[in-house]
Amino acid sequence: MNKRISFAGPSITDREIDSVMDALKNGWYENYDMHVKKLEKTFADYLGVKYALATHCCTQALHLACAAIGLKEGDEVIVTDFSWVATAYAVAYTGAKCVFADIEPETWTIDPDCLRKAITEKTRAIMLVHTFGHPAGMDEIMKIAKENGLYVIEDAAPALGATYKGRKVGTFGDVACFSFQGAKMAVSGEGGILVTDNEEIYERAKLLSSMGRTDSEAVFWSDMLGYQYTMGNLAASLALSQLLRVEELMKIKRDIFGWYEQGLSSAPGIRLVKEKEGCKSNYCYPSLLLTDEIVADRDEIISGLKALNIHCRPAFPRMSRFPVFEQRYENPVAALVERRGISLPSAANLNKRDVSFVCESIKRLIG
Ligand SMILES: Cc1ncc(COP(=O)(O)O)c(C=O)c1O
Repeated sequence: MNKRISFAGPSITDREIDSVMDALKNGWYENYDMHVKKLEKTFADYLGVKYALATHCCTQALHLACAAIGLKEGDEVIVTDFSWVATAYAVAYTGAKCVFADIEPETWTIDPDCLRKAITEKTRAIMLVHTFGHPAGMDEIMKIAKENGLYVIEDAAPALGATYKGRKVGTFGDVACFSFQGAKMAVSGEGGILVTDNEEIYERAKLLSSMGRTDSEAVFWSDMLGYQYTMGNLAASLALSQLLRVEELMKIKRDIFGWYEQGLSSAPGIRLVKEKEGCKSNYCYPSLLLTDEIVADRDEIISGLKALNIHCRPAFPRMSRFPVFEQRYENPVAALVERRGISLPSAANLNKRDVSFVCESIKRLIG
């Protein structure tokens, strides 16, 4: 069997090993949160925002973001229909209703026109995703939010390093969240971080992330129903060492996408998801859509690739179809991507020859 071509996986160097060893040796006693604090400060500085709060995973950061802006039962939040379910469940945890909007065919990010049409008098916020590292259309989204007095939460889980018109994603909305889960741009095993310029959102998220503990009436006193969502030094030390290599990690992903572009551009019926003009994607998960020119079934193609030890992912099923949500939506673009979209391997250990093998195998399988 040939080398496993993994869907995703990190680049780990001596820098990461040294950083984790440092946390293991020194991150205790009076230094119990030293690496966490350093990660938060470095992350905030990197993005150019005032506050960052590290969490055990991005789902928790998203939940804190939703709770910190005060979402509750009776509120509506417009959510992209195409994402990992954490995006929508974070909203649902607060009791607010998810109203699912369709996506743009070019970037698979929320379509601003659909978003606008979904607004009602109950709408309180927009939950967008910079899907697979492609920036959402922030000019239009922020304009809609401003006109309608809505909060904007950026789910930037896979989008570290991506920019929209020269500005880093995660700096547009009221609050944004990134993931350090093992398949993301920068990893810490599991991990997440919430960022904001809004002091009130930050303070509330921070309190909620540590069990609502205020010590106000007594040591260990808690003033609200909070959660244990904080990150520890070991994970933070790994995330930090990866963050310090973000440009290098992004280059790895962008090179891989460039090889896919070379290898698949001549293939009929394949539409690669490419960055829009003025945007820089981190190409966290290079993806393609099979057009009608290709008769082969998407899942059969993925199985055929798996038999060659090439590990792809089908596109997400639309979240609005999950039993948790009561209302059904058509959202035709997301419905098409759900059926015909594939995310390609982009693990950091792939070389040009591996990607070329993937491209040739895809071309063979689609006939
Ligand atoms: C768009 C999106 N949002 C949220 C998450 C959740 O991140 P985590 O696994 O760190 O909780 C993910 C993870 O895959 C994601 O892709």
